[in-house]
Amino acid sequence: MYDHLTIVKHPLVQHKLTLMRQRDTSTASFRRLLREISLLLAYEVTRELPMTSTTIETPLQEMEAPILAGKKMALISILRAGNGLLDGVMELIPSARVGFVGLYRDEETLQPVQYYFKVPTELEDRLVIVVDPMLATGNSSVAAIDLLKLAGARNIRFLCLLAAPEGVERMGQAHPDVPIITAAVDERLNEKGYIIPGLGDAGDRMYGTK
Ligand code: URA
Repeated sequence: MYDHLTIVKHPLVQHKLTLMRQRDTSTASFRRLLREISLLLAYEVTRELPMTSTTIETPLQEMEAPILAGKKMALISILRAGNGLLDGVMELIPSARVGFVGLYRDEETLQPVQYYFKVPTELEDRLVIVVDPMLATGNSSVAAIDLLKLAGARNIRFLCLLAAPEGVERMGQAHPDVPIITAAVDERLNEKGYIIPGLGDAGDRMYGTK
């Protein structure tokens, strides 16, 4: 559909996503599923990382063994729902540097308003993985990536759980250099900017608010 988009069709990802979508899934289950799914998505988003090799000694002999090349990567969570994805990704990549972008969505204009920005140094030398479970209008993601590029980021990937075609389109126009990795692309947005059929408000479902 879009060449900057990867849909992770792994059966475990799809199964867990179905459970998360269900209205009756409890906050505790939702959180657990999101953590589990984020481990699987993190595996995909890091699939083509540059490698180098190092000389090690096994108990039997010396060998040249592969390791990750380059600087520690940066994980950037778009608050607050991004933190749900961040937890699992951090578990898989414990040495990653972590940053936060706080943007809230003005309910009338649907435009993002910035209230927090704290990111690791030397972004220009790192792979930057931006996490936010829901790519809806794309307004917050585009704004967050604008800010990260201003801060020096050049090699960015965007990881989400669910996307709307409108958000994928908008990201592709604003940031065609940023690959999107998601578990599914749903039908559309409704008039309030929610993904349909979606899973509701990811932050509310994760934190039991509303
Ligand atoms: N954010 C959410 O949490 N859910 C949506 O459906 C859209 C944006």
